[in-house]
Amino acid sequence: PRVGVVVVAAGSGTRLGLGVPKAFVEIAGRSILDRSLDAVRGLGEPVALVIVVPSEAVAPTTEMLVAAGTRAEVVAGGTTRQRSVALGLAVLPDTVETVLVHDAARAFTPTAVFERVVAEVRASGHGAIPVLPVTDTVRRVSERMCGETVDRSTLAAVQTPQGFPRAQLQQAYDEAADDLTDDAALVMAAGHPVSTVDGDASSFKITAPDDLRRADDLLRRNAV
Ligand code: C5P
Repeated sequence: PRVGVVVVAAGSGTRLGLGVPKAFVEIAGRSILDRSLDAVRGLGEPVALVIVVPSEAVAPTTEMLVAAGTRAEVVAGGTTRQRSVALGLAVLPDTVETVLVHDAARAFTPTAVFERVVAEVRASGHGAIPVLPVTDTVRRVSERMCGETVDRSTLAAVQTPQGFPRAQLQQAYDEAADDLTDDAALVMAAGHPVSTVDGDASSFKITAPDDLRRADDLLRRNAV
């Protein structure tokens, strides 16, 4: 395959407060991780899929994938998201030219977003990330006191999958000093431009208990 997808699912998910790593929390009978893979399963071209999970989850995840008929390499993650991504990148096959990094916590990202990112990376020769316009008024706040309002037309909310030419992403990870949670920030720090494509509202990240309710609502409406 010429496209590689690294799905990171090695976070602890303590903010959900369920005592299970977040990616393994079930929503209507299927785990967040399994659901996040639906977008990848829907892609028209073959991809090399790498899934990064907590070390104790490697065996059960492999079993889940076999049962689902999904071919993927499963590897153990690290203590930070950045380390988990690096461990995933390390096992991509040589044929891969474009790499997408996706948060398993975004369980409902449509396949179309993956396709837009791949198309933009190929057309531009550099990174591409999905974004949404910011609809709330945004203000700087310090010690609970209001500062200035920030012009929201210059802001965007960043989602995943974030896609890059493999060489640029690998260079960025090889040179990475700080621990950044955003792949585009690393690639830009390594000197490469990154452009944006349209994200999708259903690509929200499941972080807090409220997000699980939102996920349930989405499933009920779409019956997926
Ligand atoms: O914690 P947060 O929701 O920001 O994590 C974003 C994604 O990165 C999640 O899908 C999580 O599983 C993953 N992650 C990881 N390894 C870590 C921390 C987070 O794969 N050490």
